[in-house]
Amino acid sequence: MPKPRVLATRPLFPAAQQILNGSCEVEYWTQPERISKEELFRRITDKEALVCLLTEKVDDELLRAAPKLRIAANVAVGFDNIDLPACTKRGVVATNTPGVLDETTADFAWTLLMAVARRLGEGETLARSGNWKGWDLDQLVGTDVWGKTLGLVGFGRIGRAVARRAAGFQMKVLYADAIRAPLDIEKNLKAEHRDLNTLLAESDFVSVHVPLLAETRGLFDAPKLFRMKPTAFLINTSRGPVVDEAALVHALESGKIAGAALDVYENEPFIHPGLKRPNVVLAPHLASGSLETRTKMARMAAEGVVALFKGQRPANLLNPDALKAH
Ligand code: DGY
Repeated sequence: MPKPRVLATRPLFPAAQQILNGSCEVEYWTQPERISKEELFRRITDKEALVCLLTEKVDDELLRAAPKLRIAANVAVGFDNIDLPACTKRGVVATNTPGVLDETTADFAWTLLMAVARRLGEGETLARSGNWKGWDLDQLVGTDVWGKTLGLVGFGRIGRAVARRAAGFQMKVLYADAIRAPLDIEKNLKAEHRDLNTLLAESDFVSVHVPLLAETRGLFDAPKLFRMKPTAFLINTSRGPVVDEAALVHALESGKIAGAALDVYENEPFIHPGLKRPNVVLAPHLASGSLETRTKMARMAAEGVVALFKGQRPANLLNPDALKAH
């Protein structure tokens, strides 16, 4: 019985390689630069499985180039790079990696929140510059985090993990979500539900944790940003297109909000020049980036592939209807 042929667009981590190599014939893209679209399309032709990153689009065009493909395993929880209806139509199963990155991503949302509130980026630049003249009373004074109001937009696993950490800072926690959380969760996390506009008006820190969907694309437009307090900060570790970057730049330039801390951008890796301001902390899409978590994500993707070829239902299946074609 020939082994299923798999293309992995990165070498993954040894733990994930071990899973895949045990039962599949795997081609890993190992070049330091990303795989180009042409190369991806060339190499996918004879493959039954693809282990891909959020930077690769699994759309009709790719699927046309991959007539044998049965599974696309995305090494990410967000799957806006995958055209699910197109996959389902062709019987291609799609999976993602939920759950394993919640705490790590929440840690990083806090890293950004603290950094922008306490002006860490500016402080680091000064400390490295050779121009620091020593302690001064009003030098780079920031704003307190403890005791303030944290507004979470999106209250799924990651939003809740961020809320858990707020207790240590004695913060009031508000959340807005299309689905209200069960009362015991609200009680445990001491989180109060608000509609989005009220949350924006009441929060000192607004942290975004929604997936990118048609309804959330451009959610933070000018009217929404203008509802925030002029002393408030926006933190985004979800997906860039949830925030209208031109509107954000305008809100920052006109002092409608105090600052922002961003891990994700509308057109990655491009970063709007207007965001390169002292009151904006910029990170290059790092939130899930601990070795432990990225290894778990890669393992999870690999396990899904192996499960499918063993005739099992992969965990984290995004389009169960695609299985009917198998
Ligand atoms: C995801 O998983 O969707 C993140 O953006 C990368 O970890």
